[in-house]
Amino acid sequence: MAAEQDVPATGREWHLAARPQGWPAPADFALVEAPVRRPAPGQVTVRNAYLSVDPYMRGRMNDVKSYVPPYALGAPMDGGAVGYVVASAAEGLAVGDAVLHGQGWREYATLDAAHAVKVDPELAPLSAYLGVLGMPGLTAYAGLLEVASFKEGDTVFVSGAAGAVGSLVGQIARLKGAKRVVGSAGSAEKVATLVEEYGFDAAFDYKAGPVAEQLAEAAPEGIDVYFDNVGGEHLEAAIGALNVHGRVTLCGAIAQYNDTAAPTGPRNLALAIGKRLRLQGMIVGDHAALRGQFFAEVGGWLRSGELRSDETVVEGVENTVEAFLGMLRGANTGKMVVKV
Ligand SMILES: NC(=O)c1ccc[n+]([C@@H]2O[C@H](COP(=O)([O-])OP(=O)(O)OC[C@H]3O[C@@H](n4cnc5c(N)ncnc54)[C@H](OP(=O)(O)O)[C@@H]3O)[C@@H](O)[C@H]2O)c1
Repeated sequence: MAAEQDVPATGREWHLAARPQGWPAPADFALVEAPVRRPAPGQVTVRNAYLSVDPYMRGRMNDVKSYVPPYALGAPMDGGAVGYVVASAAEGLAVGDAVLHGQGWREYATLDAAHAVKVDPELAPLSAYLGVLGMPGLTAYAGLLEVASFKEGDTVFVSGAAGAVGSLVGQIARLKGAKRVVGSAGSAEKVATLVEEYGFDAAFDYKAGPVAEQLAEAAPEGIDVYFDNVGGEHLEAAIGALNVHGRVTLCGAIAQYNDTAAPTGPRNLALAIGKRLRLQGMIVGDHAALRGQFFAEVGGWLRSGELRSDETVVEGVENTVEAFLGMLRGANTGKMVVKV
């Protein structure tokens, strides 16, 4: 017999109604009232408290083969979420426990307890497990330290620098002894945050002029590491600015996620030969072994106040699409989350 607390008969969940062509539109999504299934043996029902909206979800809206399967049409979408167990038929998880799991985009989720990770809301606010202490945090940590083989004295350039991943890349580089940390972001306000709040040495607004020119000014001695969240013009500019034996983490290419035409750049890839550059793609899931070290080190910096993490919170499950589209447009500083 399952232990239970305040579980309603129905809850709201988002479905993908149509595959977006170019920029997604609200009509591509539908908010559906659906029964909340009671947990079978080994399962729990979770009342989601925060939902994650992430750039990779745009790729899952296309019907193409990738490292994660596409969203099915007319079915609930999924993604990172944190919430509280409200019904449990599983050993090890009790009503009231806080958990991280993969059934976001909805108010209530019923899932195998094996797919839920217990988290401690006393240690950090629940939403942090979707951001600085979660998937984006590990992406920044592993992408900089493992994939780009960052070492003390490197000059680091990161794009998307005011976002969830980018804001941490820059700060981790600073804390690990970078010679210089440079970031780019999409507004003067974000640029000020990078320098004044996150301790970047220099930052620029990529919308205010050519990236290559602004990067040359911000990093006159070139760069050793480029952490790419954006692709296109940013990647081309970075290849031009990289020093011999420079390293690039290819983490994301958000500038082209809504493009319908083939990308045009980088046009200068042949420079990688003479400069002996290393450009390496990454998927955060390959770096799970680093999670313990990441959690201890980043958690320590958060507690000591040496590392800042911002969130942009949109309220209400009904505004999840708006939060997702806002994140793609740059409405967020730090991690974009939905408070259910
Ligand atoms: N490989 C992996 O395992 C992995 C894991 C997590 C994330 N990622 C990638 O990492 C990147 C950042 O993800 P995140 O979760 O931290 O998102 P985020 O940076 O918090 O949010 C996305 C940001 O992208 C920027 N942006 C949108 N269009 C842009 C454009 N045309 N040019 C430049 N910037 C643009 C916006 O900021 P501005 O205001 O600055 O434009 C927006 O705030 C994404 O590319 C994502 O796909 C990869």
